[in-house]
Amino acid sequence: MQIPNYHTPQKEIACMTIMPTRVMPDMIDDVRGSLLRTPRSLSPKYFYDERGSELFDQICSTPEYYPTRTENRLLAKYAVDIINKTRPDQILELGSGYSTKTRRLFDACETASQSCVYAPLDVCEEVLIESAQKLSEEYEWLGLKPLLGDYHGGLGNLPASTGSHLFVFLGSTIGNFEQAEALDFIKEVYKAMRYGDHLLIGVDRVKENHVLNAAYNDAQGITAEFNLNVLHVLNRELNANFNIDAFTHSAVFNADKERIEMRLISNTNQKVQIDVLDETIQFDRGDDILTEISQKYTHMGIETMLSEANFSITDHYEDEDAYFSLVLASK
Ligand code: SAH
Ligand code: TRP
Repeated sequence: MQIPNYHTPQKEIACMTIMPTRVMPDMIDDVRGSLLRTPRSLSPKYFYDERGSELFDQICSTPEYYPTRTENRLLAKYAVDIINKTRPDQILELGSGYSTKTRRLFDACETASQSCVYAPLDVCEEVLIESAQKLSEEYEWLGLKPLLGDYHGGLGNLPASTGSHLFVFLGSTIGNFEQAEALDFIKEVYKAMRYGDHLLIGVDRVKENHVLNAAYNDAQGITAEFNLNVLHVLNRELNANFNIDAFTHSAVFNADKERIEMRLISNTNQKVQIDVLDETIQFDRGDDILTEISQKYTHMGIETMLSEANFSITDHYEDEDAYFSLVLASK
């Protein structure tokens, strides 16, 4: 029997999967190579399952986490200037998450009568689909091309498209890479671009220790929950038996390296079984896992990195406190 459909037909949103151009370790090899070695660490991409993405979104609106609102203000102020200078046929965003701040660019496109396609790239499929659905309702004119994949290795396989491109990399995600990796990554972005394309990058700045420490230790404990959530991911994906309550969140500004270092610290002597790896890890009380770094940059440090990757800087926007930089650069 034919069931009549009384609902308004929803536009079906599907992600295009971006394959890496080189062999990438799967989670099993990746975790084996980082968690079973000392110092122990984990790749930050495992933070972002559906729950992790929601928690990150909540971090962004805590009073202590100044980067999101500062970057959003910079975007609101300069987006029309950016769109007029770049006239993008396509906006391609790396690690787009909920694309909240990117809306400032879409608003500016409306002001500047610039129609374009938006291609958000992320590893979290649930968030890509949910965001694309909302964007299609809010910005009916916006072409949407969500891309599911890893920006480490996937940049050489972005779908071909004509016209001018604005690559967007917000949220100081570049700070989550070791500095040498950050430069290599910016060079890869440069390679993926064509002459005349632009890059818009948001980078967090070096500032007073207490402001930085507070941003990664919010009073509501959301950052702690976000950090600990990665253990739930390992329990689920690798059939591990981490006792979440037996670890504590730690985030401290390392003034020598000018970066926040985020760790999970074992509260007791304990053994953790990881079935899929067929391994047991012994943690002594105080042992830690490095889960994230967040490098802070100086005004000059950002420009040096971009110049070393061959970019020409078009504009370097910053707020009055110089808490955050938004840099527009071209190839
Ligand atoms: N750009 C947003 C979100 C930043 S959080 C903002 O500024 O608020 C980092 C985002 O990058 C998350 O959405 C996460 O899912 C995504 N991400 C993390 N590692 C990734 C990887 N290796 N490849 C692609 N996306 C990644
Ligand atoms: N790119 C963001 C930053 O370095 C990511 C981030 C914000 C983050 N808060 C976090 C990562 C807390 C882990 C934990 O600020």
